[in-house]
Amino acid sequence: MSASARLSIRGLGKRFPLRTDGGGVRTAQVLQGVDLDVRESEFVSIIGASGSGKTTLLRIVAGLERADEGTVTIDGRVVKGPGQDRSMVFQSINLFPFPPRSQPFPAGAGRRFCGGFLSRSAIN
Ligand SMILES: Nc1ncnc2c1ncn2[C@@H]1O[C@H](COP(=O)(O)OP(=O)(O)OP(=O)(O)O)[C@@H](O)[C@H]1O
Ligand SMILES: [Mg+2]
Repeated sequence: MSASARLSIRGLGKRFPLRTDGGGVRTAQVLQGVDLDVRESEFVSIIGASGSGKTTLLRIVAGLERADEGTVTIDGRVVKGPGQDRSMVFQSINLFPFPPRSQPFPAGAGRRFCGGFLSRSAIN
């Protein structure tokens, strides 16, 4: 860890099991050997093709996902789960799409909106 880094990532690796067309399971290595230091007030953009593991990396830093290898430390403390020292803005909407107050709330909308919300959450 660099002395001035607040966030430090070392040797991070993550694999996911993937179902193959033949019904078997293979392992996809999504992240491997990721090292990153972020210092106070630094603004860092992580750029990569779709599916390259950007969100997975952020979810590990947020403590929402476990790494298979490596460590994430924040101010010298190893991340083992979510904490109040971090926040994450999710890529897809996770709020109920309530109509404006001027419009009546449609009958059955709660169940429909909740169903959509739950199916999206499951995907995330
Ligand atoms: N929970 C999971 N189970 C299985 N595979 C997963 C899971 N989460 C992510 N993956 C797979 O890991 C890979 C990386 O996904 P990730 O969402 O991190 O990519 P990304 O770089 O954020 O992509 P995008 O630019 O489309 O947002 C993808 O192949 C994805 O299908
Ligand atoms: Mg993403």
